[in-house]
Amino acid sequence: MAPVKVKKICCIGAGYVGGPTCAVIALKCPHIQVTIVDLNQSRVDAWNSPDYKLPIYEPGLEEVVRQARGKNLFFSTDVDKGILEADLIFVSVNTPTKKTGVGAGFAADLNYVELATRRIAAVATSSKIVVEKSTVPCRTAESMRTILEANSKPNARFDILSNPEFLAEGTAIDDLFRPDRVLIGSLQTQEGIDACTSLAEVYANWVPRERVLTVGLWSSELSKLAANAMLAQRISSINALSAICEATGANIDEVAHAVGYDSRVGPKFLKASVGFGGSCFQKDILNLVYLSESLHLPEVAAYWRQVVEMNEYQKRRFAKKRIAVLGFAFKADTGDTRESASITLIRDFLSEKAHVNVYDPKVEGEQIWQDLAEAIPGTPLETIKKSVTIHNGALSACTGAEAIVIATEWKEFRDIDWQAVYDSMNKPAFVFDGRMLLDAKKLREIGFNVTVIGRGDRL
Ligand SMILES: NC(=O)c1ccc[n+]([C@@H]2O[C@H](COP(=O)([O-])OP(=O)(O)OC[C@H]3O[C@@H](n4cnc5c(N)ncnc54)[C@H](O)[C@@H]3O)[C@@H](O)[C@H]2O)c1
Repeated sequence: MAPVKVKKICCIGAGYVGGPTCAVIALKCPHIQVTIVDLNQSRVDAWNSPDYKLPIYEPGLEEVVRQARGKNLFFSTDVDKGILEADLIFVSVNTPTKKTGVGAGFAADLNYVELATRRIAAVATSSKIVVEKSTVPCRTAESMRTILEANSKPNARFDILSNPEFLAEGTAIDDLFRPDRVLIGSLQTQEGIDACTSLAEVYANWVPRERVLTVGLWSSELSKLAANAMLAQRISSINALSAICEATGANIDEVAHAVGYDSRVGPKFLKASVGFGGSCFQKDILNLVYLSESLHLPEVAAYWRQVVEMNEYQKRRFAKKRIAVLGFAFKADTGDTRESASITLIRDFLSEKAHVNVYDPKVEGEQIWQDLAEAIPGTPLETIKKSVTIHNGALSACTGAEAIVIATEWKEFRDIDWQAVYDSMNKPAFVFDGRMLLDAKKLREIGFNVTVIGRGDRL
């Protein structure tokens, strides 16, 4: 049988990955009908909102949705219809770290993947290519296949592919338009290779062929965990060096520049910071730790666990009375706060009995309260609210504070009237630039005590 020509795609999960990824597929493949389904009604409503108030913020996303929605891009809560009609189904549901049961705190919670897979098996009446888009532990595809095969109808056969997503929040649309690579893993059977060809044809509409890498199923699953673990490991490595810099008077910027000039190392992801956040790095490394332990590889598990421990150490180092935290998103140009360093920072400030003023240009107040309530279980939100004030501007957040922490690298923080901020603060006034965003020399001239992460004070 020749590879299937994909005409209809269904994506289960209209989140940070499913939404942008499949909206771009729709834009680049006008001959393919793309339906993104989700159980969350309000999320789907937001994707469908007449004034394009989309549920997630990504530069360029609105433009893509404006061009394709209603033509060949649809958002719906009718999961079954989406499954029935599609030749190819992306499973792009959330895979958070397990909170309870075996592997709690480390392993990925595959419940959502399992439920989506069961739904596919129950509903499908014809053959489908099922694509793991979610980040999953190695050999999850095998469990999916077992579920699909045990529950399928006659005439419905399933080919499973792994196609992990490498987009970074904040640059998702650029990353999807010009990916470094697209990775597709399949079983090395004729059916598996044909299914792989079908998906590769979809990407071939805009991604150069040489950037579409086809590998075995297990390699593809592991490559996603490996890529995130290695990126996070570079951040923890440079953060570990930043502590040495502060103690010795060396400058982490200069060290990173010198090290990154080595073509074997390269310059990217060598920026010291308050630590990494986001929904993926920590969860994926913990997942790798769990995988290593379950494979009886304790040294390997300990090695990767240390990357997360270094990150916790770095976040703690940043935790001193009234403190203004500028930025709550886990990085600039996104409203996403999952695993944001700010959450841990504020939690630690509160445990030191500080009062915290917060300002972020994109994150809604409700989200901040929800994140803080989750981070400080056992403390009623009303008590937290007595120690935290959310502001709608940087100047008001800094007024009356002793210290400012730059927690997210929003460009607008560079353009603040720093003299006015200084005049409004209690003295001595401290700035901790956790993102190496500000002009430290200019701030010192105004009168601030400036600590830039990874720069010794003796300089
Ligand atoms: N966020 C990132 O930057 C990023 C990057 C690469 C990979 N990933 C991976 O992609 C996956 C999805 O991440 P995300 O950030 O998009 O998550 P998300 O929480 O934003 O979105 C997942 C969506 O799936 C929906 N869902 C869950 N179960 C469902 C079901 N049975 N039927 C229909 N809808 C269902 C949820 O309602 C939710 O809207 C995860 O495995 C994540 O690790 C994320």
